[in-house]
Amino acid sequence: MAVTRKEEETNGASSVKPKYDPDFTDKVIAATGPNAHPRLKQIMPSLLRHLHDFAREVDLTCAEWMAAVDLINEAGRMSDDKRNETGLVCDILGLESLVDEITSKLLLNAKGGSIATPSAILGPFYREGAPLLPNESNILLAAPDSEWYKQAEPLRAHISGRVVSVSTGKPVANAMVDLWLAGPNGLYEQQDPTAPEMNLRGRFLTDDDGRYALYALRPTAYPVPLDGPAGQMLQLLDRQAYRPAHIHFVVTAEGYGAVTTQVFDDKDVHLEDDSVFAVKDELIVQFKPREGDPKAHWTLTYDFALCEV
Ligand code: BEZ
Ligand code: FE
Repeated sequence: MAVTRKEEETNGASSVKPKYDPDFTDKVIAATGPNAHPRLKQIMPSLLRHLHDFAREVDLTCAEWMAAVDLINEAGRMSDDKRNETGLVCDILGLESLVDEITSKLLLNAKGGSIATPSAILGPFYREGAPLLPNESNILLAAPDSEWYKQAEPLRAHISGRVVSVSTGKPVANAMVDLWLAGPNGLYEQQDPTAPEMNLRGRFLTDDDGRYALYALRPTAYPVPLDGPAGQMLQLLDRQAYRPAHIHFVVTAEGYGAVTTQVFDDKDVHLEDDSVFAVKDELIVQFKPREGDPKAHWTLTYDFALCEV
C-alpha cells in the first residue's frame, strides 16, 4: 500500500483512509500456488509490491499503462538475432548495468573477495562464432581501397596483454579472448551493410605466457540505436544517446570464472554520461602512439585477471 503524506507525518499510524484498496496487492500475491517455481515464489512478492506501489504512487492511468505495453510490444517486434531492442530499453534504464554489478558482487562474495577484472555489460551486439585467429592477426577486414577503410586507417591499433590468475599472478595459457568493437562510423558489422561479415570481431588464445595480441582499431563513440522505443524514450527523457568509445571483451579459461567486460578510451568526452551507465574507473584505458609499426598508429596494453572456480 502506498504511504500517503498524512500517514508519513503521523509516523505510519494510519489516520486517513487509504486512497486505493489496501488488500489488493496481498490478494494478488496470495494467488501464487504451492507448486510455483521456487525462485519465482521467492521474488514475485517483492516484484508485485514494488510494481503495485509504483502504480499507486504515480496514479498510473490506463492510457499510460497502455503506452508502456505498446512500447514493450514494439521492442519485441523489432528484436531478432541481430538486434535486441528490449535489451536496449533495459540498458538505457540502467538495468543491465545494475544486474551486472549484482552478479559480479555475488560472485566476489562466493570467491572470498578475490578481485578479478571488473565486469561490464555484454550489450546487444555480441555474436557467437567470431573467427578464431592466431595472435598478431588483424581483425579489420574491410578492403583497403574502400571508403570505410579510409575512415578507419588513422585509428589502426595494436592491442595486447596478458591473462593472469588472481590468486597466483601466474599466466593463464589457452585462455580465450573474444573481442568486438564498432567501426569508425559508430556501427557494429551487423548494423553496417558496408562492412564485411565479422569485421572487427575475433577470438584469440593466450600463449604459454598468458599473452594475447592483435591488430584492430582505436574505438569510436557511437549513439545507441535511436530508431525504436529505446531511442524514443531517450528523446522523451531529454537524454544524450552516446556510449563512450569502448572495446568489448569476453575472456574465458578452463578452471576460471569468465570475465565479460569493456575497456573505455580515456580521451572520450562521454565517460561521465554513458547512455547505458557501464563505465567503471578500472576499465578506463590509455591508447598511446605506436612507433615503428606500419600496421598501427596506436597501441593499447590491457591485462585481465581471472578467478579460479
Ligand atoms: C554496446 O556496448 O554495444 C551497447 C550496450 C548497451 C546498449 C547498446 C549498445
Ligand atoms: Fe558496444
